[in-house]
Amino acid sequence: MRIGIVTSGGDCPGLNAVIRGAVLHGQESYGHAFMGFRGGWRGATLGDAIPLTRQTVRGISKLGGTIIGTSRTNPWEFGGEGAVKDSMERLGVDAIMAVGGDGTLAVAKRLHEAGIPMVGVPKTIDNDLNATDMTFGFDTAVSIATDAMDRLRTTGDSHGRCMVAEVMGRNAGWIALHSGMAAGAHAILIPERRTTADELVGWVESAKLRGRAPLVVVAEGFVLEGEVAAHSGRGLDAFGRPRLGGIGERVAELIESRTGIETRSTLLGHIQRGGVPTAYDRVLATRFGMSAVDLAEQGSWGSMVALRGTSVIEVDLTDALDEPKTVTESRYLEAQRLFG
Ligand code: F6P
Repeated sequence: MRIGIVTSGGDCPGLNAVIRGAVLHGQESYGHAFMGFRGGWRGATLGDAIPLTRQTVRGISKLGGTIIGTSRTNPWEFGGEGAVKDSMERLGVDAIMAVGGDGTLAVAKRLHEAGIPMVGVPKTIDNDLNATDMTFGFDTAVSIATDAMDRLRTTGDSHGRCMVAEVMGRNAGWIALHSGMAAGAHAILIPERRTTADELVGWVESAKLRGRAPLVVVAEGFVLEGEVAAHSGRGLDAFGRPRLGGIGERVAELIESRTGIETRSTLLGHIQRGGVPTAYDRVLATRFGMSAVDLAEQGSWGSMVALRGTSVIEVDLTDALDEPKTVTESRYLEAQRLFG
């Protein structure tokens, strides 16, 4: 069988490890051949693809990003299932392995329903996919964010300032919760929790009173008191979702005006998705790539690999799209005990 791999949506540390795991296992264990569609669904609709062989994937697990490129292309703006089927036929591709987050997996499901043999691999630094305990990329993002906060604390301590760190995660607070706990933040603000300005000011002032330089971590999807939606001044993406970012600056202004403490905000942005994947993410991604090939070999079309405990299991693509996996109240309250 010839399998076409698509990496779609935001790039994510571990994508290359998926590609390598799939190609090596598929080639050695089953004699499958692989093509990589370039630039996400754009490549799949245009038939723009490169052969992926043992040589092509040599040494790529440790590389961030994706060697076949990605995009947030909506394939229905480029001919949809008809265009994908045509390019598969032209290239002799029998099935597609779609590696992506909720947007990509929704596309994969729709293409599967249109008769294209499809298996899925969940990916996102946001860790917000319901069907899997973890997505690869999350561990790297949390490590980078934690490292950045450790560095911010140096400045905070030296100047006696309050430091605000804004992290990604879209409408889930996982990156904020984990990096904030790891860095010992005095407050963590997440989309799932409507923290009031008074609560925030209370935590900041209590840390300051104890002689600490307050560290506040805010997820980009956090909704300020009195507002109805997350801060978004940058329009919509190809799937109509608001592009988030910038709340950190507003939180910093609020803290400074309410407490008089000199406050600075840092937006970590795409640094969180860049560079070398952690060992954890490389292992998870490699296992996902290998298991997705097993699903294709079994003809389990319309399914996806997922992590349950320490086992990689098969789930329906629909399961990934149910509801986003967001931070539970008990996980937030656990972290909150150490605020202030
Ligand atoms: O889904 C991953 C993610 O990094 C989100 O955390 C963030 O909101 C979004 O992608 C940013 O997208 P883009 O790279 O298109 O700016």
